[in-house]
Amino acid sequence: MSILIAPSILNSDFSDLRGELAKISGADYVHVDVMDNHFVPNLTLGLPVIESILRATDVPVDAHLMIEEPDRWAVAYAEAGCASVTVHAEAAAAPVRLARELRRQGARAGLALRPASPVEPYLDLLSEFDMILVMTVEPGFGGQSFIDGTLPKITRTRAAVEEAGLDVWVQVDGGISQETIERASDAGANVFVAGSAVYKAEDAAAEVSTLRELATA
Ligand code: DX5
Ligand code: ZN
Repeated sequence: MSILIAPSILNSDFSDLRGELAKISGADYVHVDVMDNHFVPNLTLGLPVIESILRATDVPVDAHLMIEEPDRWAVAYAEAGCASVTVHAEAAAAPVRLARELRRQGARAGLALRPASPVEPYLDLLSEFDMILVMTVEPGFGGQSFIDGTLPKITRTRAAVEEAGLDVWVQVDGGISQETIERASDAGANVFVAGSAVYKAEDAAAEVSTLRELATA
């Protein structure tokens, strides 16, 4: 199972996105957090900025949509060229239909779960998705502490993927750092979003490498 590191630019300098993206050219994905101030109590960026990011980097873009009505908006992110588009299970009216549309546009389809949302309702639908995002903090802000209580959900998700013989990725997002990444990896995650750990590090590129080594070990 491949270990993938996806730095989140949420806490980077938005006035110098090109420079911030250049720091993580060795990452597997760039994770972009779209927030609408309704699904979460924070507002970030939308499609126009994503389009600029897509032009400014060769790193595939992993869009994490923390928005209401993703059924209406998500496909445009796939059409724009995002390699992966993840919507929240709590917000999507028809997540399977939406995932099929995302795949039809050539994107990987992700389904995200808040810390309190169970994965069980989706275990029979795993083949419809390319990735399950187990949020390891309450979505909305960077810099929060990793919630250990989410570890069993990561383990259950990984076990169900293995049992079904699927190649669905298990992503974790929130509080991932040198202190927590091994716990998440041991539990069964293989895609690691890290925002402040990467962008607060003196050397972002070196931090990406360190995180990858720790997750692989
Ligand atoms: C939070 C976002 C995360 C955030 C992670 O809702 O989904 O992607 O940027 O930031 P850290 O790594 O600082 O917890
Ligand atoms: Zn995110």
